[in-house]
Amino acid sequence: MASLARNNYAMCFFAIFISLAMHVAHGANVVPTLFIFGDSTVDVGTNNFLRTRAKANFPYNGIDFKLSCPTGRFSNGFNTADQIARQFGYEQSPPPFLTLEKDQYSFKKRILQGVNFASGGSGILIGTGSSEWGEVIFFERQVEQFAWVRGNISEILGEAKAAELVSKALFIISVGSNDLFDFSRNATASNIPPTQPYLARVQLTYFSHLRKLYELGARKFGIISVAPIGCCPAITSGNGGNCVKPLNDFAVAFHSATQELLQKLSSQLEGFKYSLGNSFLMTTTLLKNPSSFGLNETKSACCGIGYLNGQNGCIKAQNANLCANRKDFLFWDWFHPTEIASELAAKTLFGGGNDFVTPINFSQLAYSC
Ligand SMILES: *[C@@H]1O[C@H](CO)[C@@H](O)[C@H](O)[C@H]1NC(C)=O
Ligand SMILES: *[C@@H]1O[C@H](CO)[C@@H](O)[C@H](O)[C@H]1NC(C)=O
Ligand SMILES: *[C@@H]1O[C@H](CO)[C@@H](O)[C@H](O)[C@H]1NC(C)=O
Ligand SMILES: *[C@@H]1O[C@H](CO)[C@@H](O)[C@H](O)[C@H]1NC(C)=O
Repeated sequence: MASLARNNYAMCFFAIFISLAMHVAHGANVVPTLFIFGDSTVDVGTNNFLRTRAKANFPYNGIDFKLSCPTGRFSNGFNTADQIARQFGYEQSPPPFLTLEKDQYSFKKRILQGVNFASGGSGILIGTGSSEWGEVIFFERQVEQFAWVRGNISEILGEAKAAELVSKALFIISVGSNDLFDFSRNATASNIPPTQPYLARVQLTYFSHLRKLYELGARKFGIISVAPIGCCPAITSGNGGNCVKPLNDFAVAFHSATQELLQKLSSQLEGFKYSLGNSFLMTTTLLKNPSSFGLNETKSACCGIGYLNGQNGCIKAQNANLCANRKDFLFWDWFHPTEIASELAAKTLFGGGNDFVTPINFSQLAYSC
């Protein structure tokens, strides 16, 4: 048994190596370089390096990934970062910054193909996620890591070519849920503090980090706002199976504020282009009519523990349940979508109409001058 397990791990590394090689070949020249930021919705292994409870590098995570490898993705297979990258013709998301950094020999070549900075549990504010999850890489720190990479790209290509690469690259950002969750954890039934001052602080911080990316040469921002977080199994399992409206209202308010923020940035900063994906509307549209999207289970997580599999994460070692028809489920675990749900979202972001993604979709953003 022990040696079988070892062999499986060796095979996992082999499969990951092959897929990276394909990724490089596939990505050359044709498609925009992707720099990805945010939380667990787009983390592809950053947190494997951290002392955190927000981890997914164990089964059943990755059960539908190549050779069923758990990689740190909170998904049965590809997550939303991968699915967006796949829409652009890549095999999967670019690797985590912390993985690339470990191998100085290949670092210089591989950062030109894109980098993923996202860290599960993190948020826009410094401090978001830490009391709940432990060590996470906040958005501000992710932007600092990008500033490093930006310097390295200049060393490699020279300033002019580096600026061109970065200005044509797509900056994909999926963040905000954990800021809202952290705030809501402090609320009690008898004391719900006003959300507006907090939201204003979150947005002001978001503004400064986006402007910092712009100053580093970023021009194309593909932003994903917050999904109806009041409907994920972690929340509904504590509410008799029903969505929690104040959390969903909070997500809607976050979306509107983000829309205003992006309008402001694009009116102030020359050449700033964006595309804002309304994941709230995408998800509620699906919840109203799951079968038209090919799904039939939108309440229970596929993998997890307790009521609706929503009372703990997808941890095989703790005897988590695992569904058989993973293509039928919206939720993989207590917080995250399945591979198929991420694919539906990525397709809408890439090619959807401007009710779901405004003012243009990700493909228009990427292929515009
Ligand atoms: C990347 O940039 C950082 C910060 O300037 C530097 O310390 C590091 O050595 C560079 N890495 C490579 C591979 O050039
Ligand atoms: C929640 O409460 C703690 C303790 O009072 C406080 O330190 C923290 O800043 C609060 N978090 C939010 C997001 O309001
Ligand atoms: C969903 O559909 C599949 C067939 O595609 C079926 O096997 C399964 O029982 C259905 N699940 C529910 C909850 O209706
Ligand atoms: C979005 O993307 C598709 C595919 O690139 C494009 O053809 C289409 O016009 C866009 N949709 C809208 C409504 O702008």
